[in-house]
Amino acid sequence: MADRPKILVTQKVPDPAYPLLEAIGDVEANMEEGMIWPYEELLRRGPGHDYFYCLLTDNIDAHFLEVCAASTPRLKMVANMAVGYNNIDVETATRLGIAVSNTPGVLSDTTADLAFALLMATARRIPEAERYLRAGKYTGWGPLLFCGAEVHGSTLGLIGAGRIGKIVAKRASGFEMKVIYYDVYHLSPEEEAEYTVTYLPMEDVLRQADFVSVHTPYMPSTHHLISTRELKMMKPTAILINTARGPIVDEKALVKALQAGTIAGAGLDVFENEPAVEPELLTMENVVLLPHIASASLKTRTLMATMASDNIVAHYHGQQPPNIVNPEVL
Ligand code: DGY
Repeated sequence: MADRPKILVTQKVPDPAYPLLEAIGDVEANMEEGMIWPYEELLRRGPGHDYFYCLLTDNIDAHFLEVCAASTPRLKMVANMAVGYNNIDVETATRLGIAVSNTPGVLSDTTADLAFALLMATARRIPEAERYLRAGKYTGWGPLLFCGAEVHGSTLGLIGAGRIGKIVAKRASGFEMKVIYYDVYHLSPEEEAEYTVTYLPMEDVLRQADFVSVHTPYMPSTHHLISTRELKMMKPTAILINTARGPIVDEKALVKALQAGTIAGAGLDVFENEPAVEPELLTMENVVLLPHIASASLKTRTLMATMASDNIVAHYHGQQPPNIVNPEVL
């Protein structure tokens, strides 16, 4: 590449990501913290860049990719600062010869921590109890005050036992939980022994678990993987935890299941139409809602941010980006 490449960064990211990019190219960046450029703004700014450093909030669809592929310079790579890349039309990118990368691994422990925190918070009604206290309603210890669900010794059902699911299983072992899992990929017997997990068909996981925690990627085959039928299979005392992607759970069906007492509660870090949340959920005390913060420790976000830069730098130097999603374009 004769000229310095033009790089567009779509949101303010941790500082160490920028010098890595500035060392190889001219960086245009959205530096306004919390400002998410709408799609029209991406379309206005995107064309004419070699590299696109983006976030899961950016809709990198076929139209965007086609426009950027037809511009000068031509878009060469989209580096997502996230492990999930369902915001990018990878098929179109691949057809157009545009590389796509993500940031796997570095966020697995932090995300598992939050999944477990959400499970604890929902089971033990922590946000609800804190709201009660802050509202000045706490007049004294009570034998029935905020009795919640038992966590230790209960059964955790993982829907998805990839990098993050397996670490959640490790966290659960400290609470002496029995861990059962369903995944389209069976773990090896060695891994099942290492993480003390038992494979069961999804229906059995749903029927037996006290807590069902979702850890699959979002793709057409996992859209509404948990819907009315699956919620009905769960115990009426069960709690659903989702730190993966919102549309894996049918949010309207979940509202109905919570209203009907089909399940006991839910802890959600992700939503079907993020940042919008089904309004009924906001009124339910047995639901804990978080604004997609599972990987949000500064250390982890910094690792993710530099990893996304490293992917761009590697591509610029003619090397295979370490976390390329579609290596066939190279
Ligand atoms: C991801 O990386 O996909 C998470 O949802 C945000 O860290």
